[in-house]
Amino acid sequence: MGPRGSAVVCAAIAITCVIVLLEEPPPPTATELAVRRGDEVFRNKAMCLTCHSLDGRGGQNGPPLDHVAAMVIRMKGSRDQARQFFLDHLVDPANHPGARHRAGPPPFTSCPSYRGALEERELQDIAEYLLTLE
Ligand code: HEC
Repeated sequence: MGPRGSAVVCAAIAITCVIVLLEEPPPPTATELAVRRGDEVFRNKAMCLTCHSLDGRGGQNGPPLDHVAAMVIRMKGSRDQARQFFLDHLVDPANHPGARHRAGPPPFTSCPSYRGALEERELQDIAEYLLTLE
């Protein structure tokens, strides 16, 4: 192959590389992965929607969680403190935001404690997921 042929091959390879790079979606961030796992645990393992609702779907025993992140971030002052509150609340439900705290109708007067029922990472994933509910 002459120099001209080589140049054409090189250009073709370079163009292919650019196209592949452009089409590849960026890999999800650690936070995005945590949110996905948290969403899954929230719905299917911890069954949070038996008592709480999102978009009007779910149970009525606990407060709707549609904008819970916005409320808690406002109350606690930062996302980091809101994340910590969610973690604390999940292991000790008496730790509540305050403003909206109200007892649900019996027998579900409180959020259950998930201490021991969920792994530490699952709790962190749920907290990360709850932060998306703005
Ligand atoms: C058996 C019913 C029940 C289940 C299941 C339940 N909760 Fe609750 N939750 C409640 C009740 C009742 C309250 C209100 C009283 C309180 O704060 O404990 C509440 C309060 C909350 C609050 C505070 C919201 C606010 O506006 O004050 C959050 C956040 C929350 N729950 C998250 C969760 C998550 C996440 C799960 C699943 C891991 C879950 N809950 C499962 C009953 C439940």
